Amino acid sequence: MYDVEKIRKDFPMIVNHPELIYFDNGATTYKPQCVIDALTGFYTDYTSNVERGEYSTAIRADQAYAGTRDVIARMINCKPKEIAFLANITAVLNQIAFGLSRELKKGDTILISYAEHASNVLPWFRLKKELGVNIRYIPLDEEGNVIIDELDRMFDDSVRIISLAYVTNVLGSVQPIRKITEIAHKNDALVVVDAAQAIGHLKIDVKDLDVDFLGFSSHKMCGPDGVGVLYGKYELLQKMEPIFLGGGMNARFDIDGNVLLKDAPERFEAGTPHIEGVIGLAAASEYLMNIGLENIHAYENELRSYLIQKMLPLENIEIYNPANPSGPVSFNVKDVFAQDAASYLSTKNICVRSGHHCAKILHNLIGVDQSIRASLYLYNTEVEIDRFVDEVSRITLEETISIFL
Ligand SMILES: Cc1ncc(COP(=O)(O)O)c(C=O)c1O
Repeated sequence: MYDVEKIRKDFPMIVNHPELIYFDNGATTYKPQCVIDALTGFYTDYTSNVERGEYSTAIRADQAYAGTRDVIARMINCKPKEIAFLANITAVLNQIAFGLSRELKKGDTILISYAEHASNVLPWFRLKKELGVNIRYIPLDEEGNVIIDELDRMFDDSVRIISLAYVTNVLGSVQPIRKITEIAHKNDALVVVDAAQAIGHLKIDVKDLDVDFLGFSSHKMCGPDGVGVLYGKYELLQKMEPIFLGGGMNARFDIDGNVLLKDAPERFEAGTPHIEGVIGLAAASEYLMNIGLENIHAYENELRSYLIQKMLPLENIEIYNPANPSGPVSFNVKDVFAQDAASYLSTKNICVRSGHHCAKILHNLIGVDQSIRASLYLYNTEVEIDRFVDEVSRITLEETISIFL
């Protein structure tokens, strides 16, 4: 049985700050004690660099660092050598765009959607500017879900890549990735998946989805900041040029400038990596797998429906994605600027995100530039939702002005 009270005790931020209602999990998540212990264990017991030392603490660090590849491989169903560690999903998407750019030419097409985060837009825009590739937008329904039939009709010989968020960060649409890869592969296009908002919220099986590349950030799944995971089918990773060059990723180089890179995945990990972060990510992954990603997903969906059911009757708000089954709830309070409403909620110890959420072209779809986003996670409760909805129901223009006086 899903025991949320037990789970809450694992998170020092919740234990130390019972007054806070944290509904900003789309931005980052709280960390359980086991992740904190993994970090401090590295600092207090075996600090050393990796793949550079022959002494006992360095060997222990090597094993722990490499061990994370095994854990992630188990979590998303791939081979450990298909996993590279970068700084975050932003770095991962930049790496993929840079790597694939070597195979693109003027007139090739990349498909993305209006609902993408800046990290899955700007690296492709750069290729448009530098190479003259076309960027085209996949049609979405009013809650941001890909319209599969229309996607099918977009394919012609020029389409080389389709890059999409698995779960979008404002509307929380869960895109039908399996169907998308089927269509893309039939048309010889590669599929890149930004799993930033999906990882740790639902079970991801990259083999079943048949995606070519997928990435996520550790900090959005209870792990440390500063670590991103790049998954790629091995033959694609082996062909891909790394964005960063330096120590750790080359096998040898000589005075004449001849360089031999290491095989994937090490070739993508130039310089000293975020060793303790990677080790902490293994602890986070094990923690979530022990609870069960299906259980977390089911619990979150229940919570989300509860939140929607409580919010729908409120007359002072407009919700943009009531029908989506999971993900964040995005809304505005009528006549109130989103940031002001979020500041008001902050005076009640409620943490939500407001603004455009780095999805600046999304207003083309929903017609508003700014919104408030309540994003839930495995440790949130119905009691918190009751308090949140009660406070949201009280927000008026006058109330928000009064907090600034
Ligand atoms: C869908 C999506 N992609 C990419 C990112 C960027 O994540 P990071 O800042 O960890 O690189 C985010 C962050 O909110 C996101 O929600």
